[in-house]
Amino acid sequence: MDSSAIIIYGSIYGSARTYALELGRRTGIRVVDSKERPAPGCYDTVVYIGSLYAGGMTGLEKTFRSWDRKDDRTRIFIASVGIADPSKEDNCEHIRSSLAGQLPAGVYRTARFFHLRGCLDYQLLSFRHKAMMWMLVRMISGRRAKDMSDEDRQIVETYGKRVDFIDFDSLDPLVRALAEPYHQA
Ligand SMILES: Cc1cc2nc3c(=O)[nH]c(=O)nc-3n(C[C@H](O)[C@H](O)[C@H](O)COP(=O)(O)O)c2cc1C
Repeated sequence: MDSSAIIIYGSIYGSARTYALELGRRTGIRVVDSKERPAPGCYDTVVYIGSLYAGGMTGLEKTFRSWDRKDDRTRIFIASVGIADPSKEDNCEHIRSSLAGQLPAGVYRTARFFHLRGCLDYQLLSFRHKAMMWMLVRMISGRRAKDMSDEDRQIVETYGKRVDFIDFDSLDPLVRALAEPYHQA
């Protein structure tokens, strides 16, 4: 186990937490909830796994905002967990551009990004999240078919249901990246 590494997760209904725990099991790296306010600057390797809500990543800003990065000593890996299909490059670009606004510039510039798919169960959603999805679906449904993205169509098709895309094999690229040799500057 690498004691100078940490996996931090930001999760509301458990998908990002599930991935973080599996990554911890596979790498031996300690896993911590972002609510415990770990300080990323204290580690050589930081993995952040967080779920997406309207483009924002759970706990990300709070975790990184007080860290004024001065060097490239820490390796940073950020993995999003959402419903959008990460095999579509458009979706990944969209996620990364939203994350740019949530991270200090030095962290965003040096981080490596990964994209995972989570689980969405309407029965478990809070009233607020149900209302957000209802409004989103109403907004999308008002668009002409040709103006809808694949992501839009998927949101409408899965509305009110339970969809589970959790796939531990999708952690493989992140596990490989963590195993790459690391030379401190
Ligand atoms: C209100 C709401 C907004 C969401 N926004 C996004 C989004 O912008 N992009 C995305 O890919 N998934 C989005 N999702 C899906 C969640 O990211 C997905 O369910 C994820 O697995 C939740 O992770 P968690 O269980 O760790 O909180 C949204 C879900 C809800 C309920």
